[in-house]
Amino acid sequence: MSTVEQTTTGRGLQDYMPLNGVDHVELFVGNAKQAAYFYSRAYGFEVVAYSGLETGVRDRASYVLRQGRIRLVLTGALHSDSPIAEHHRQHGDGVKVIALSVPDVDHAYREATTRGAEGVAEPHDATDAHGTVRLATIKTYGETLHTFVGRGGYPGPFLPGYEAWSDGSTDTGMLLAIDHIVGNVEHMDPWVKFYEDVFNMKEMLHFTDNDISTEYSALMSKVVADGKGVVKFPINEPAEGKRKSQIEEYLEFYEGPGAQHIAVATRDIVGTVAELRKRGVEFLDIPAAYYDEVPQRVPEVAPQLDDLRTQGILVDHDDEGYLLQIFTKPVGDRPTVFFEIIERHGARGFGDGNFKALFEALEREQDRRGNL
Ligand code: FE2
Repeated sequence: MSTVEQTTTGRGLQDYMPLNGVDHVELFVGNAKQAAYFYSRAYGFEVVAYSGLETGVRDRASYVLRQGRIRLVLTGALHSDSPIAEHHRQHGDGVKVIALSVPDVDHAYREATTRGAEGVAEPHDATDAHGTVRLATIKTYGETLHTFVGRGGYPGPFLPGYEAWSDGSTDTGMLLAIDHIVGNVEHMDPWVKFYEDVFNMKEMLHFTDNDISTEYSALMSKVVADGKGVVKFPINEPAEGKRKSQIEEYLEFYEGPGAQHIAVATRDIVGTVAELRKRGVEFLDIPAAYYDEVPQRVPEVAPQLDDLRTQGILVDHDDEGYLLQIFTKPVGDRPTVFFEIIERHGARGFGDGNFKALFEALEREQDRRGNL
């Protein structure tokens, strides 16, 4: 059974790792310029900043995209001997940095490294004509990093070294904020403990393989969240199934642990998904039969049922309300990273009631790729 627990009990005022939220997510990609075009034109982001040869940066090109409170950074290498090129060679397009806004970078880094996190970059200032930002970086699962960001009142377009940049795209306002970011790992418990120890996160939910299994595919998942519930990191591991699980497929093609999906919140999932489809975003197909039981399961959505069916949107509920969600197909060539669009109406869960229908849909895709 899945279990929902209050995340605030026992935390008191002594939270040693207060987080303001996700500052940005940086993906290492094969071609940042074209990826920026894809995310702006297909997903409705606005290109707002750039760093590269034209701004005096010699080893990489980075485009910063914004939509609502979401910031994506797309970074590509300019030389074969770049660690970015090496990362891309091994993993394909993928999430490299989940950056977290914190009130005090030095404090966050000190607490994290004291409690077992491995440091990558000690606290340092990054400065340009606009001002100064404080940064520090630690490792998490696989080759993924967490950067602590202290912006103060930095007024520049993104971070020092970046210049304001426009390619004519605009913020469409469809997607508002990051809801959660999921990691796929070989063994979840050490990483749950990592987020508990290092980030003072609490396990708010877990799913066993009884919850999340179909005939062929199974996974186990635990969700950790910070005290304010602004940062939520579900962690998945593969569970025993008859055939290869979707998590194993990810681990094989990403060649190790990494971020599986970024869930982004919207206020109008029906309108947003219709628009995203028009722009070329591909979503997982949901069997029509899935909708037969929805009005009984979640009566609140009965008036919207036709729209939800037309757009392939999934419905789940818990004691506190319901949620609507949909999953894109992988955004790159490898069957690894994808996005989720979510509209919450009180529910704090992650769609575990949808997992069976969802995984059956996923397995059909996996089967088409010859990986089941
Ligand atoms: Fe999710």
